[in-house]
Amino acid sequence: MKIINIVGARPNFMKIAPLMESYRDYPHIRPLLVHTGQHYDEKMSDLFFRQLGIPEPDLNLDAGSGSHAAQTASIMTAIEPVLLDERPDALLVVGDVNSTIACGLVAVKLGIPLIHVEAGLRSFDRSMPEEVNRVLTDSISELFFCTEQSGVDNLLAEGIAPGRIHLVGNVMIDTLLRNREKAEASNILAEHGLEAENYAVMTLHRPSNVDDPAAMGRILDAVQTIQQDMPLVFPVHPRTEGRLRHFGLSGQLDSMKNVLRIPPSGYLDFLKLTANAAVVLTDSGGIQEESTILGVPCITLRENTERPVTVEVGANRLAGNDTGRILEAYRRSRLAERGGWAPPPFWDGKAAERTVAVIDQWWDEICGRQRESGELSATAGS
Ligand code: UD1
Repeated sequence: MKIINIVGARPNFMKIAPLMESYRDYPHIRPLLVHTGQHYDEKMSDLFFRQLGIPEPDLNLDAGSGSHAAQTASIMTAIEPVLLDERPDALLVVGDVNSTIACGLVAVKLGIPLIHVEAGLRSFDRSMPEEVNRVLTDSISELFFCTEQSGVDNLLAEGIAPGRIHLVGNVMIDTLLRNREKAEASNILAEHGLEAENYAVMTLHRPSNVDDPAAMGRILDAVQTIQQDMPLVFPVHPRTEGRLRHFGLSGQLDSMKNVLRIPPSGYLDFLKLTANAAVVLTDSGGIQEESTILGVPCITLRENTERPVTVEVGANRLAGNDTGRILEAYRRSRLAERGGWAPPPFWDGKAAERTVAVIDQWWDEICGRQRESGELSATAGS
């Protein structure tokens, strides 16, 4: 079985790493890795490949940045000849970025079955580009791997046959558990003079927060107060860096003495930073999940989450971008007991193993059906 695996943007890399490793237990599966090049900076891409031991991509499409339409179109145009050339038996995509839908759409139109890892998550907020990508990718996928029960329920409600949906757990958490010890060796706390459990970490990159100067201003007002209570580390996404400058908000941030504004961190440094933080403030999806497993209270700077299990277990609070609500969530998070919640089911480091086992079985069944219909010789495909 030849399966092409797609990565494009930073949050894809930690999801693909354990899958590439699990394929090794199945010598008859030949995985190819294609990087779309949606993220291309050393700190947004290459560093993750090295730290997570992801094999060099078999191909890089070098799509780069652009408007949603331009980026999606250039990924589609670049992946089509690859799929025509390679003729894989399946295409696997992870998450919800533009690379996910772009490659998925091209594959299904060429008759290549699409496998979606992290399927079924829904924020029910169509103003988020990722929500559109999620809904569309799921509407054309063949096989669905879910991280939490809400994903299964959403897919069933959308009419997907139960036999195609598999609750396997969270491949991003596989990577976190595998790298936790390694991350302990990071010097990031000492480098910045941070004391464990006595600082906050913040990440921001969603258009709803960083493309609107009023929203970004309200978040910075909350940061102003929080940094008077404890240091706040802020690894700045390139998109956010650009917006801060564009809106003239860089100066306000620079004037806050207890804010450490640093470039985007590598995986291991960031894991060490979150694991030891008193509280995490973020608009990322993955960081809500990571802090849940690390036992660190999370404040999500959004009105909704497609990962409701993180709120249900008590690890995560939704605060939007309103200054008062962020500060109230901060106060409550400070009172919360670290790790005082149970991990969601199957977030145990074995999600990739389960996923590849299901893919293997699915392929076996396809080959069996083809044999019965005489399309395949008795020995091929086994
Ligand atoms: C993308 C994903 C988002 C994910 C995020 C993680 C989509 C729709 N969004 O958002 O779901 O949470 O990645 O980071 O796919 N840039 C660089 N260097 C890079 C990459 C980007 O400087 O290596 C800058 C460029 O100015 C670019 C901007 O960041 O225009 C935005 O990058 P893009 O990939 O379009 O979206 P993200 O905001 O990173």
